[in-house]
Amino acid sequence: MTATVIDGKAFAAKVRGQVADHVARLKEAHGITPGLAVVLVGEDPASQVYVRSKGKMTVEVGMKSVEHRLDADASEADLLAVVKALNEDPEIHGILVQLPLPGHLNEDLVINSIDPAKDVDGFHISNVGLLGTGQKSMVPCTPLGCLMMLRDHHGSLSGLNAVVIGRSNIVGKPMAQLLLGDSCTVTIAHSRTKDIEAKVREADVVVAAVGRPEMVTGDWIKPGATVIDVGINRIDAPEKGEGKTRLVGDCDYDSCAAVAGAITPVPGGVGPMTIACLLANTVTACCRANGLAEPEGLTA
Ligand code: GUN
Repeated sequence: MTATVIDGKAFAAKVRGQVADHVARLKEAHGITPGLAVVLVGEDPASQVYVRSKGKMTVEVGMKSVEHRLDADASEADLLAVVKALNEDPEIHGILVQLPLPGHLNEDLVINSIDPAKDVDGFHISNVGLLGTGQKSMVPCTPLGCLMMLRDHHGSLSGLNAVVIGRSNIVGKPMAQLLLGDSCTVTIAHSRTKDIEAKVREADVVVAAVGRPEMVTGDWIKPGATVIDVGINRIDAPEKGEGKTRLVGDCDYDSCAAVAGAITPVPGGVGPMTIACLLANTVTACCRANGLAEPEGLTA
């Protein structure tokens, strides 16, 4: 079997189009422009690239984009003051504090200082609790993107066996909650799981989010299963020339694609969906803040 390739780049473009349509309607019918604020502390190069990309796409869908940059040695009080001002700003509907923060700042404290209604990352403890109890919440962007692609491919996920590999707060745990919410039978596998291959072989849906390059190989995959690869790992690629690198996922693409029914590539799979879902969450937050109907298909 050769797997269907789930094109995350095209899917993300479609989601951004839906967001842009909704933003246009909000402006036209209600005079409201959704606003997203991104806060970056320090000069981490990868974070700077993400933040620039987020700002550009926010503007492209017609939303207001605000960036706050603080020095790497900014105090916790400085950062909390920025978050407080954004919490109180009626033109800002979504707030994202780019992680990781420099080591002297308490990430949990900072994240939990964000107004949960504006927490478009879905990392605030209130949103974690709401998701865990099946209530309306802000949902973390990467798992939301994975869910959208799975729903699109399968229609209903009810009754499917799902294995999530990885137990992070950002991806693994919320992904498991979302799959449970769609009536999957969910297993969370991790570094201490015994006979992980056998557990993955039972899965109709595999979501790999461990950060270990090409760990999942085709012999782990049940024929016809759907493989969602969240990993983005840079590895040496001597075949491309000395000192060259390439991006790979947590799944060995060729061997998995030979067995799976559907698979997301890396790059061009889950990655582009994360920012698209951030924009979707911002529109959702804006609609909720104004007591308006939420966009369909853009929430969990
Ligand atoms: N750093 C890398 N990914 C993310 C993300 O999704 N949200 C935040 N806040 N920081 C990140």
